[in-house]
Amino acid sequence: MKKDNILVIGANGQLGSVLTRALRDQFGRNNVLATDIRMPLEDEGPFELLDVVDRRQLERLARKYRITQIYHLAAILSAKGEQNPKLAWDVNINGLFNALELAREEKLRLFFPSTIAVFGSHTPRKNTPQETIIHPETVYGISKAAGENWCQYYHLKFGVDVRSLRYPGVIGYQSMPGGGTTDYAVEIFHYAVRGEPYNCFLKPETRLPMIYMDDAIRATLELMNAPARQITVRTSYNLAAMSFTPAELTEAIRKHVPDFEVGYEPDFRQNIAESWSESIDDTAARRDWNWRPAYDLEGMTEDMIVHLKEQYLVV
Ligand code: SER
Repeated sequence: MKKDNILVIGANGQLGSVLTRALRDQFGRNNVLATDIRMPLEDEGPFELLDVVDRRQLERLARKYRITQIYHLAAILSAKGEQNPKLAWDVNINGLFNALELAREEKLRLFFPSTIAVFGSHTPRKNTPQETIIHPETVYGISKAAGENWCQYYHLKFGVDVRSLRYPGVIGYQSMPGGGTTDYAVEIFHYAVRGEPYNCFLKPETRLPMIYMDDAIRATLELMNAPARQITVRTSYNLAAMSFTPAELTEAIRKHVPDFEVGYEPDFRQNIAESWSESIDDTAARRDWNWRPAYDLEGMTEDMIVHLKEQYLVV
């Protein structure tokens, strides 16, 4: 069997940092090359600086490390994308294009993260189907919707084995999100565990689909490890685990931190959230590669609080 060498692009990010560790557990520390535009805080294995818009550096590293699979996680998220559309387009589209071209030339398997942000206000908001209206209303969503179609094109035209998930908001204790609309659902836990009040930038009744980090990582690995013949969706798979509002999350946290206080000051991110789905139909993922989430709101909340208490040493 061919030995796999993995390249993670955007390895310092919210998902990338946790996924890199999981990949090193699966493939071995030295068979996973982490890359990012900044040096990592800790030395956990092979690392190289890489800006994904720099195609020559990407190609050089892929050859040097004999890469067989790429996890292309570098992206500008929804809130930051609205503040810098040009940068978001450049990183999210040209970065993907470079990864797709490399995957085509070197016959690599490629993972591309998509998002619930590909949906827009014309999309059915409840139980959003796999095949539906995709008219995103953010720069981030537009770039990811275009990216999904590029992925399918490279698969149909060149046979590239590219696989993708439409992640809901990802919640984990291991890392902080940056520049997204679902970021509140991570920040709120840090405030609760530190015993500080939290000011939420979304309205209390804003329902969004979310997933716990452990489930998001497992979904990614399960999709990438599935036999190619089982992958029927080459744009991006809907992925669901739970859906809740800031008010419901606050109630779940109060079961562990009874006097936790939350105020609400909605900002421009409210409009972004309202253009997205409330809940997702992930039948295709369940059918094709047997996807099942393990964490619901209660299970996720308890696990987050246990781990964050350890981190803040307030056990
Ligand atoms: N978590 C992302 C964001 O809020 C959605 O994919 O931008």
